[in-house]
Amino acid sequence: MGESTIELLTLDDLDLDRMEGRRVFVRVDFNVPLSAAHEVLDTTRLEEAIPTIRELTAAGARVLLASHAGRPKGERDPRWSLRPVAEKLVELLGQSVRFAEDCVGEEAEKIARQLDPGEVLLLENLRFHAGETKNSPDFADQLAALAEIYVDDAFGSAHRAHASVVGVPERLRDKAAGRLMEKEVAALSRLLGEPERPFAPLLGGAKIEDKIETLENLLPRLDILLLGGGMANTFLASQGHDLAASLFEPDKLDVARDILARAKARGMEVLLPTDVVVTEDLDNPGDRVRTVPANQIPAGTKAVDVGPATREAFAKAVGRARMLFWNGPLGVFEKPPFDAGTRALAQALADCPGYSVIGGGETVAAVKQAGVADRIGHVSTGGGASLEFLAGKTLPGVAVLEKRS
Ligand code: 3PG
Ligand code: MG
Repeated sequence: MGESTIELLTLDDLDLDRMEGRRVFVRVDFNVPLSAAHEVLDTTRLEEAIPTIRELTAAGARVLLASHAGRPKGERDPRWSLRPVAEKLVELLGQSVRFAEDCVGEEAEKIARQLDPGEVLLLENLRFHAGETKNSPDFADQLAALAEIYVDDAFGSAHRAHASVVGVPERLRDKAAGRLMEKEVAALSRLLGEPERPFAPLLGGAKIEDKIETLENLLPRLDILLLGGGMANTFLASQGHDLAASLFEPDKLDVARDILARAKARGMEVLLPTDVVVTEDLDNPGDRVRTVPANQIPAGTKAVDVGPATREAFAKAVGRARMLFWNGPLGVFEKPPFDAGTRALAQALADCPGYSVIGGGETVAAVKQAGVADRIGHVSTGGGASLEFLAGKTLPGVAVLEKRS
């Protein structure tokens, strides 16, 4: 299996010397967590888009940023306004950012035309229009009319065939991937190329369902498979363990059994939790938190984190790996103390000398909270997008930016 062959059009293919005064529609993924008071809780996706924005403003472009936030179903919903994001962006960019109350229409067109070279405009949430997720031709026409050039830096949305992701670049001849998109595709392609061995993916999170296609695609190339979180419960149940009150997917037992059988037939190492942290009541655990062997989960309790022996075994395997991918927490990460297993693995991944890639909102949060994000090879801004990429699927937002020779 050779290196991946995706060759993207990049900012280097746009004539930056002739960018002065040109309007560039930049699709970003500013779908960031907001507090009840509408404050941006995590700025990763904003920070990651800055190199592209700066490169374009430095070339004198008029920059129109467009993003979705949440899933507002085609109607204006103040909870999902991007205005707070514009305020945060001013801080991070260190320059003023104009804001248009609607992503299409007269006001947006007017501000876009009034921008000085090097100025930045953030358009209101694309998903306030139903045409965005439907990729309606009308809506794509309206968006495309705002600009002359298209740049996509929204890797987190590249798996969505929406108007701003595929409709607009189909309408504008000059287009390119931004620096973040370029970096994401290169990092994930490395995992799909010649594996540096041992290759050890660590998959967690609630459900097998979200990861099965990724697992299927990675299976022939991995050496050590680490499984944690709610999805490990399904694997344990498929091996005949009594999971008591734990969450698992009863309809996925055959799928889990099949994966384990295939991994065994190929002589891979599969690590499942051998001890788990259990509680009767996740919301009020009190002092009724215990660590038990994974095959002796007491009646009435549920497994909510991996235990210390599992953390140690996983950390050892991670330490031996030369290539890693991690998506999905190992326990109920949002409810301490059940974040301990996830935190321990974040640390182990940072200490590992191999090439590590992580993706998924909770996994990125865990790595940041552990203070080790800068020791990870690549922190992806895409959750679903990185999983689909590693499942071997063609992402619509990537395909539309591929160089055609
Ligand atoms: C994400 O955060 O997963 C991306 O921004 C895509 O959002 P979506 O799942 O609502 O399409
Ligand atoms: Mg998603």
